[in-house]
Amino acid sequence: MQDYLRKVLESVSFINEKISEMPEIAIILGSGLGGLADEVMDRVEIPYSDIPNFPASKVVGHENKLIIGKIYNKNVIVMQGRFHYYEGYEMDEVTFPIKVFALLGVSKLIVSNAAGGLNKKLKSGDLMLITDHINTFGLSPLRGENISEFGERFPGMRNAYSPRLIELAKEQAKAKDLTTKLELKEGVYAFMPGPQYETEAEIKMLDIIGADAVGMSTVPEVISAVHSGIEVLGITCITDECYAPVSPSHERVLQVAEQVSEKFKTLVMKVIMAM
Ligand code: HPA
Repeated sequence: MQDYLRKVLESVSFINEKISEMPEIAIILGSGLGGLADEVMDRVEIPYSDIPNFPASKVVGHENKLIIGKIYNKNVIVMQGRFHYYEGYEMDEVTFPIKVFALLGVSKLIVSNAAGGLNKKLKSGDLMLITDHINTFGLSPLRGENISEFGERFPGMRNAYSPRLIELAKEQAKAKDLTTKLELKEGVYAFMPGPQYETEAEIKMLDIIGADAVGMSTVPEVISAVHSGIEVLGITCITDECYAPVSPSHERVLQVAEQVSEKFKTLVMKVIMAM
């Protein structure tokens, strides 16, 4: 396990040599939501393949680089493309970037994703602030020997999604200068390991256990971030409705996320400004 720490530290040193200021806010861009990356000023781009020990994403719709720079004068580090468990990565690989962010000095994480809506109040194209999550299969990136440089053995997961940042996002969505209305929903996100979409019985189960939306990412990263004391804001783009009679297609998921991407960008920019 100390080997894992050594690998993270190698990545951290590599990135630190390329940047002059410590990033404060990390942003993970979900499927189809990559447009925000264009807003990063004074940027340094680092392909994942250049970073020692970094995995490389294989999913269509994800670019594979870190973009480090400024948004509204805040130091940000943006992950364009993430690592999913369903691609074959182990949980500690999925969350490797989070541990790198933690040791780079990041204190806040804005994590986004595309997900299916389970709650009938959620419609395709909605943005949902994540208030909590359900880790359905119990898979944890923290399994194995604890590395105390990252955090404690038994971290609490209450308020994993910062109530302060949720309030801040809600306030910003109501800001008067917005030209289009930014309506935000709220709900519980359930993680399914995928890559298959859910069966009818699984959808029913997820609904019964209290999930509002379901997706194949985010929860491992959030567990890892909370473990390392990083404050989290989670934003879901609802790309399909699970109560529809057929499974969504990946193409449709990307298409809807891309349609929502401008609204998402507006929200995140306002949140960063107010952070
Ligand atoms: N289920 C799981 N993951 C998803 C979905 C879904 O319906 N939509 C987008 N990601």
